[in-house]
Amino acid sequence: MYQTALITGASSGIGRELARCFAKDRINLVLAARRRERLEELAGELSDAHNIAVEIFDVDLSDAGAREEIYHALKKKSIAVDYLVNNAGFGDNGPFIESDWQKQNAMIELNITALSHLTRLFLPEMTRRGRGGLLNVASTAAFLPGPYMSVYYATKAYVLSFTEALAQELKGSGVRVSALCPGPVVTEFQQQANIKNARMFSSPMVLGAGRVARIGYRGLMRGKTVNIAGLLMKLTIHPLRLTPRALVRAVSAALARNH
Ligand SMILES: NC(=O)c1ccc[n+]([C@@H]2O[C@H](COP(=O)([O-])OP(=O)(O)OC[C@H]3O[C@@H](n4cnc5c(N)ncnc54)[C@H](OP(=O)(O)O)[C@@H]3O)[C@@H](O)[C@H]2O)c1
Repeated sequence: MYQTALITGASSGIGRELARCFAKDRINLVLAARRRERLEELAGELSDAHNIAVEIFDVDLSDAGAREEIYHALKKKSIAVDYLVNNAGFGDNGPFIESDWQKQNAMIELNITALSHLTRLFLPEMTRRGRGGLLNVASTAAFLPGPYMSVYYATKAYVLSFTEALAQELKGSGVRVSALCPGPVVTEFQQQANIKNARMFSSPMVLGAGRVARIGYRGLMRGKTVNIAGLLMKLTIHPLRLTPRALVRAVSAALARNH
Protein backbone atom coordinates (compact mmCIF):
# COMPACT_ATOMS: atom_id res chain seq x y z
CA MET A 1 0.00 0.00 0.00
CA TYR A 2 1.33 3.45 -0.92
CA GLN A 3 2.04 5.85 1.89
CA THR A 4 2.75 9.59 1.77
CA ALA A 5 4.91 11.87 3.90
CA LEU A 6 4.52 15.66 3.97
CA ILE A 7 7.86 17.26 4.83
CA THR A 8 8.21 20.98 5.50
CA GLY A 9 11.53 22.73 4.93
CA ALA A 10 12.62 20.09 2.43
CA SER A 11 14.69 22.46 0.27
CA SER A 12 17.82 22.14 2.41
CA GLY A 13 19.54 20.68 5.46
CA ILE A 14 17.79 18.17 7.71
CA GLY A 15 14.48 18.36 5.78
CA ARG A 16 16.13 17.42 2.49
CA GLU A 17 17.86 14.47 4.16
CA LEU A 18 14.62 13.37 5.83
CA ALA A 19 12.99 13.32 2.38
CA ARG A 20 15.76 10.94 1.25
CA CYS A 21 15.02 8.61 4.22
CA PHE A 22 11.30 8.33 3.39
CA ALA A 23 12.03 7.97 -0.34
CA LYS A 24 14.41 5.04 0.29
CA ASP A 25 11.49 3.18 1.88
CA ARG A 26 9.34 3.97 -1.18
CA ILE A 27 7.09 6.41 0.67
CA ASN A 28 5.60 9.06 -1.63
CA LEU A 29 6.45 12.65 -0.80
CA VAL A 30 4.88 16.06 -0.51
CA LEU A 31 7.66 18.63 -0.15
CA ALA A 32 7.08 22.19 1.06
CA ALA A 33 9.42 25.20 1.28
CA ARG A 34 9.77 28.57 -0.42
CA ARG A 35 12.53 27.80 -2.97
CA ARG A 36 10.80 26.04 -5.85
CA GLU A 37 13.93 25.15 -7.89
CA ARG A 38 15.44 23.35 -4.90
CA LEU A 39 12.24 21.35 -4.41
CA GLU A 40 12.02 20.52 -8.13
CA GLU A 41 15.59 19.31 -8.16
CA LEU A 42 15.04 17.05 -5.14
CA ALA A 43 11.68 15.80 -6.46
CA GLY A 44 13.33 14.83 -9.76
CA GLU A 45 16.20 13.05 -8.03
CA LEU A 46 14.01 11.06 -5.63
CA SER A 47 11.19 10.14 -8.01
CA ASP A 48 13.75 8.80 -10.54
CA ALA A 49 15.84 6.94 -7.97
CA HIS A 50 12.99 5.32 -6.02
CA ASN A 51 10.05 5.35 -8.41
CA ILE A 52 7.83 7.34 -6.06
CA ALA A 53 5.34 10.17 -6.58
CA VAL A 54 6.48 13.59 -5.38
CA GLU A 55 4.31 16.72 -5.08
CA ILE A 56 5.83 20.09 -4.35
CA PHE A 57 4.45 23.26 -2.77
CA ASP A 58 6.56 26.41 -2.98
CA VAL A 59 4.92 28.30 -0.14
CA ASP A 60 5.76 30.54 2.77
CA LEU A 61 4.52 28.45 5.68
CA SER A 62 4.31 31.43 7.99
CA ASP A 63 1.17 32.32 6.00
CA ALA A 64 -1.90 30.50 7.41
CA GLY A 65 -3.56 30.62 3.97
CA ALA A 66 -0.64 28.70 2.44
CA ARG A 67 -1.01 25.96 5.05
CA GLU A 68 -4.73 25.64 4.32
CA GLU A 69 -3.91 25.62 0.59
CA ILE A 70 -1.67 22.55 1.00
CA TYR A 71 -4.35 20.76 3.01
CA HIS A 72 -7.13 21.46 0.48
CA ALA A 73 -4.97 20.78 -2.59
CA LEU A 74 -4.02 17.34 -1.22
CA LYS A 75 -7.64 16.57 -0.35
CA LYS A 76 -8.68 17.50 -3.88
CA LYS A 77 -6.11 15.07 -5.27
CA SER A 78 -7.18 12.38 -2.74
CA ILE A 79 -3.67 12.25 -1.32
CA ALA A 80 -3.81 11.11 2.30
CA VAL A 81 -0.90 12.21 4.46
CA ASP A 82 0.39 9.27 6.54
CA TYR A 83 3.42 11.08 7.96
CA LEU A 84 3.68 14.77 8.80
CA VAL A 85 7.20 16.07 9.32
CA ASN A 86 7.25 19.60 10.76
CA ASN A 87 10.86 20.48 10.08
CA ALA A 88 10.85 24.05 8.65
CA GLY A 89 12.28 26.48 11.15
CA PHE A 90 14.94 29.11 11.69
CA GLY A 91 16.79 30.94 14.46
CA ASP A 92 18.38 34.28 15.17
CA ASN A 93 21.47 35.17 17.18
CA GLY A 94 22.02 38.35 19.18
CA PRO A 95 20.78 40.22 22.25
CA PHE A 96 16.97 40.28 22.30
CA ILE A 97 16.74 44.02 22.97
CA GLU A 98 18.65 44.72 19.74
CA SER A 99 16.73 42.17 17.66
CA ASP A 100 14.58 42.81 14.62
CA TRP A 101 11.02 42.24 15.90
CA GLN A 102 9.72 41.28 12.46
CA LYS A 103 12.24 38.43 12.38
CA GLN A 104 11.38 37.26 15.92
CA ASN A 105 7.69 37.34 15.08
CA ALA A 106 8.21 35.43 11.82
CA MET A 107 10.18 32.83 13.79
CA ILE A 108 7.34 32.33 16.26
CA GLU A 109 4.89 32.12 13.35
CA LEU A 110 6.94 29.42 11.58
CA ASN A 111 8.49 27.44 14.45
CA ILE A 112 5.34 27.43 16.61
CA THR A 113 2.16 28.49 14.79
CA ALA A 114 2.77 26.77 11.43
CA LEU A 115 3.88 23.56 13.17
CA SER A 116 0.79 23.52 15.40
CA HIS A 117 -1.61 24.46 12.59
CA LEU A 118 -0.31 21.78 10.19
CA THR A 119 -0.54 19.25 13.00
CA ARG A 120 -4.15 20.29 13.65
CA LEU A 121 -4.95 19.97 9.95
CA PHE A 122 -3.39 16.56 9.29
CA LEU A 123 -3.36 14.65 12.58
CA PRO A 124 -7.12 13.95 12.95
CA GLU A 125 -7.18 11.94 9.72
CA MET A 126 -4.19 9.87 10.85
CA THR A 127 -5.97 9.00 14.08
CA ARG A 128 -9.14 8.10 12.16
CA ARG A 129 -7.09 5.71 10.02
CA GLY A 130 -5.35 4.43 13.15
CA ARG A 131 -1.86 4.67 11.67
CA GLY A 132 0.82 7.09 10.56
CA GLY A 133 3.22 9.40 12.32
CA LEU A 134 4.08 12.93 13.37
CA LEU A 135 7.72 13.99 13.49
CA ASN A 136 8.37 17.45 14.90
CA VAL A 137 11.90 18.77 14.64
CA ALA A 138 12.68 20.42 17.96
CA SER A 139 16.28 20.85 19.13
CA THR A 140 18.43 20.30 22.19
CA ALA A 141 17.70 24.04 22.62
CA ALA A 142 14.34 22.83 23.96
CA PHE A 143 15.99 21.69 27.21
CA LEU A 144 17.52 24.98 28.34
CA PRO A 145 17.15 28.76 28.10
CA GLY A 146 19.19 30.33 25.28
CA PRO A 147 20.67 33.75 26.04
CA TYR A 148 21.42 35.51 22.70
CA MET A 149 18.97 33.14 20.97
CA SER A 150 16.18 33.60 23.50
CA VAL A 151 13.16 33.42 21.19
CA TYR A 152 14.55 30.50 19.17
CA TYR A 153 15.25 28.38 22.27
CA ALA A 154 11.80 29.22 23.64
CA THR A 155 10.13 28.16 20.37
CA LYS A 156 11.90 24.81 20.56
CA ALA A 157 10.82 24.34 24.20
CA TYR A 158 7.27 24.78 22.89
CA VAL A 159 7.82 22.18 20.15
CA LEU A 160 9.12 19.61 22.63
CA SER A 161 6.38 20.22 25.19
CA PHE A 162 3.64 20.18 22.54
CA THR A 163 4.95 16.97 20.95
CA GLU A 164 5.32 15.13 24.25
CA ALA A 165 1.78 16.12 25.22
CA LEU A 166 0.39 14.86 21.89
CA ALA A 167 2.34 11.60 22.25
CA GLN A 168 0.53 11.01 25.52
CA GLU A 169 -2.89 11.97 24.11
CA LEU A 170 -2.41 9.63 21.15
CA LYS A 171 -1.16 6.60 23.09
CA GLY A 172 -2.88 3.51 21.70
CA SER A 173 -4.18 5.40 18.62
CA GLY A 174 -1.75 3.71 16.23
CA VAL A 175 -0.18 7.08 15.36
CA ARG A 176 3.48 7.51 16.30
CA VAL A 177 4.59 10.87 17.65
CA SER A 178 8.23 11.85 17.91
CA ALA A 179 10.27 14.97 18.69
CA LEU A 180 13.72 15.01 17.12
CA CYS A 181 16.19 16.99 19.21
CA PRO A 182 19.46 17.60 17.37
CA GLY A 183 22.37 19.60 18.73
CA PRO A 184 24.41 21.67 16.26
CA VAL A 185 24.11 20.42 12.65
CA VAL A 186 25.94 21.87 9.66
CA THR A 187 23.22 23.29 7.37
CA GLU A 188 22.10 26.68 6.07
CA PHE A 189 20.69 27.28 9.56
CA GLN A 190 23.96 28.87 10.76
CA GLN A 191 23.83 31.51 8.04
CA GLN A 192 20.12 32.20 8.54
CA ALA A 193 20.62 32.54 12.31
CA ASN A 194 23.83 34.58 12.07
CA ILE A 195 25.55 32.00 14.25
CA LYS A 196 28.44 30.83 12.05
CA ASN A 197 31.15 31.65 14.58
CA ALA A 198 29.39 30.45 17.74
CA ARG A 199 31.37 28.08 19.94
CA MET A 200 28.74 25.37 19.77
CA PHE A 201 29.53 24.91 16.07
CA SER A 202 33.18 24.15 16.74
CA SER A 203 32.43 21.42 19.30
CA PRO A 204 32.71 17.64 18.77
CA MET A 205 28.92 17.49 19.11
CA VAL A 206 28.37 18.82 15.59
CA LEU A 207 26.67 16.23 13.36
CA GLY A 208 25.93 16.05 9.63
CA ALA A 209 22.37 16.57 8.36
CA GLY A 210 22.22 13.07 6.84
CA ARG A 211 23.10 11.40 10.13
CA VAL A 212 20.57 13.49 12.07
CA ALA A 213 17.82 12.75 9.55
CA ARG A 214 18.47 9.00 9.77
CA ILE A 215 18.30 9.18 13.58
CA GLY A 216 15.04 11.15 13.32
CA TYR A 217 13.50 8.77 10.80
CA ARG A 218 14.40 5.68 12.82
CA GLY A 219 13.09 7.32 16.00
CA LEU A 220 9.75 8.13 14.35
CA MET A 221 9.30 4.63 12.98
CA ARG A 222 10.05 3.18 16.43
CA GLY A 223 7.71 5.68 18.12
CA LYS A 224 10.45 7.27 20.21
CA THR A 225 8.79 10.27 21.84
CA VAL A 226 11.93 12.27 22.71
CA ASN A 227 14.81 11.56 20.37
CA ILE A 228 18.09 13.33 21.20
CA ALA A 229 20.50 12.95 18.27
CA GLY A 230 23.92 11.52 19.11
CA LEU A 231 25.38 9.81 22.17
CA LEU A 232 27.55 12.77 23.15
CA MET A 233 24.49 15.05 23.09
CA LYS A 234 22.47 12.60 25.22
CA LEU A 235 25.29 12.52 27.76
CA THR A 236 25.28 16.33 27.85
CA ILE A 237 21.53 16.91 27.99
CA HIS A 238 20.46 14.32 30.56
CA PRO A 239 22.60 15.71 33.46
CA LEU A 240 21.14 19.21 32.82
CA ARG A 241 18.18 18.24 35.01
CA LEU A 242 20.50 18.06 38.00
CA THR A 243 22.63 21.11 37.15
CA PRO A 244 21.87 24.47 38.83
CA ARG A 245 19.89 26.66 36.40
CA ALA A 246 22.22 29.65 36.88
CA LEU A 247 25.14 27.53 35.62
CA VAL A 248 23.07 26.18 32.72
CA ARG A 249 22.20 29.75 31.64
CA ALA A 250 25.83 30.92 31.84
CA VAL A 251 27.19 28.00 29.80
CA SER A 252 24.37 28.33 27.26
CA ALA A 253 25.21 32.03 26.79
CA ALA A 254 28.91 31.26 26.26
CA LEU A 255 28.08 28.62 23.63
CA ALA A 256 25.69 30.85 21.64
CA ARG A 257 27.89 33.96 21.46
CA ASN A 258 29.74 34.55 18.18
CA HIS A 259 33.49 34.84 18.84
N1 LIG B 1 21.12 23.19 12.07
C1 LIG B 1 21.06 23.08 13.38
O1 LIG B 1 22.08 23.27 14.10
C2 LIG B 1 19.79 22.65 14.04
C3 LIG B 1 19.86 22.12 15.36
C4 LIG B 1 18.69 21.74 15.99
C5 LIG B 1 17.47 21.88 15.33
N2 LIG B 1 17.42 22.39 14.07
C6 LIG B 1 16.11 22.54 13.44
O2 LIG B 1 16.08 21.75 12.27
C7 LIG B 1 15.11 22.26 11.37
C8 LIG B 1 15.71 22.33 9.98
O3 LIG B 1 16.78 23.25 10.01
P1 LIG B 1 18.11 23.05 9.16
O4 LIG B 1 19.24 23.03 10.10
O5 LIG B 1 17.96 21.95 8.18
O6 LIG B 1 18.15 24.50 8.45
P2 LIG B 1 18.09 24.95 6.93
O7 LIG B 1 19.09 24.22 6.12
O8 LIG B 1 18.15 26.44 6.97
O9 LIG B 1 16.62 24.49 6.48
C9 LIG B 1 15.47 25.17 6.87
C10 LIG B 1 14.34 24.79 5.94
O10 LIG B 1 13.17 25.51 6.34
C11 LIG B 1 12.62 26.13 5.19
N3 LIG B 1 11.93 27.36 5.57
C12 LIG B 1 12.43 28.42 6.26
N4 LIG B 1 11.51 29.39 6.36
C13 LIG B 1 10.39 28.93 5.72
C14 LIG B 1 9.12 29.48 5.47
N5 LIG B 1 8.76 30.70 5.92
N6 LIG B 1 8.23 28.75 4.76
C15 LIG B 1 8.57 27.53 4.30
N7 LIG B 1 9.75 26.96 4.51
C16 LIG B 1 10.66 27.66 5.21
C17 LIG B 1 13.80 26.42 4.29
O11 LIG B 1 13.39 26.47 2.94
P3 LIG B 1 13.20 27.80 2.06
O12 LIG B 1 14.26 28.77 2.46
O13 LIG B 1 13.33 27.28 0.66
O14 LIG B 1 11.82 28.26 2.38
C18 LIG B 1 14.63 25.16 4.51
O15 LIG B 1 14.19 24.13 3.67
C19 LIG B 1 14.68 23.62 11.94
O16 LIG B 1 13.44 23.49 12.60
C20 LIG B 1 15.78 23.94 12.94
O17 LIG B 1 15.32 24.76 13.98
C21 LIG B 1 18.56 22.79 13.41
